Amino acid sequence: MIMNKYRLMIPGPTPTPPQVAVAGALPLVDERIPQFAALFDRVLGNLRRVFGTAHDVLVFASSTTGSMEGAIANLFSPGDRVVVVDNGFFAARWVAIARAYQLDVVELAQPWGTVVDNVEVARTLDADPTIRAAICVHCETSTGAVSDLAGFGAATAGVLSIADAASSLGALPVRADDWGLDVVVSGCHKALMTPPGLSFVSVSERAWRAQAVATLPRFYFDWRAAKVAMDHGGTPWTPAVGLIVQLDAALVHLFDEGLDAVAERHVRLGRSVRAAVKALGLTPLAADDDANAVVTAAVCPPYLDAAKLTAALLDGHGVQMSAGYAELANRLIRIGHCGYVDRYDVVVAVAALEQALHDEGHPVEMGAAVAAAQAAYGPASRAVRT
Ligand SMILES: Cc1ncc(COP(=O)(O)O)c(C=O)c1O
Repeated sequence: MIMNKYRLMIPGPTPTPPQVAVAGALPLVDERIPQFAALFDRVLGNLRRVFGTAHDVLVFASSTTGSMEGAIANLFSPGDRVVVVDNGFFAARWVAIARAYQLDVVELAQPWGTVVDNVEVARTLDADPTIRAAICVHCETSTGAVSDLAGFGAATAGVLSIADAASSLGALPVRADDWGLDVVVSGCHKALMTPPGLSFVSVSERAWRAQAVATLPRFYFDWRAAKVAMDHGGTPWTPAVGLIVQLDAALVHLFDEGLDAVAERHVRLGRSVRAAVKALGLTPLAADDDANAVVTAAVCPPYLDAAKLTAALLDGHGVQMSAGYAELANRLIRIGHCGYVDRYDVVVAVAALEQALHDEGHPVEMGAAVAAAQAAYGPASRAVRT
């Protein structure tokens, strides 16, 4: 058997930088010692910078879905009416959670691959003053479409706004305060380059006021309990100590590169992957737009089964990509390019895709995807070695 290295090119979990892996090997510490409180405080400060907020960011030991559920449970009472823009698999999860908590959900269904229609959101809110909140996903990871969150904040100024930045936070700019977003949720294992297990939520003053009067039951994800503990340097329940130490290393790594440079790298990676995919005769599902810089979902021709293709990529080349979700499970191949990913990760990944497509009988010109990826990424702007 011939060795292939394992290369993780999915939109989460993502590869961890060496510093983050090393931090995971350190001996565990008691969460009650002052050294951990200081580290946690630094993490919270850095998270606030990534969220673009001067308000609270709360940390929970869960994947992002925990903080999605927590947002619903903390902000609402049974029967509250909310709008959810449903343009993909993760947006649909918001609909499901809100319904599970007996909210009255107005679902704005949009085709997969499209971005949030902020005009329609504003129109819906204008037409129904009983709606209390609006929810959307920033980067819909099932399609690669990245929506305009500043526009969403403006369209929802009169109600609570909730944005899911699970895959975008740490890759693309998020400015919760400037954009008027009351609540933003995310997790650590995508662009924040940490193994899975932490979720975050930013909470505006208006969201705290809503939380104070909301009656849905909550316990583990009770924001007030988290805030009281956080203000005393900790968490109400046992924190995921090891992951928080790793997240600290990841955030230091992120700020060493700088948020602007990180965003520019992601834009270039997105261009590079879309160019490669097109050179292979596949079609990006979302628009060929610089905004779509986190994950690229490529539509396969009908004679190719995307699930089989990802299996062939893994078995034959060691390259891990994702197939699609739901009805698009066998139609989409999703390439993650968020977090600790550079241009040459993309070059290797598309070289493997080229070979795998060729082996499946799909006509490709060998080297075309690699050339397209290289050309679209463009010249080095600044060589940083990490
Ligand atoms: C946009 C988005 N929202 C929510 C989630 C849910 O996260 P998890 O399944 O890690 O709880 C994900 C995970 O992929 C996501 O991409």
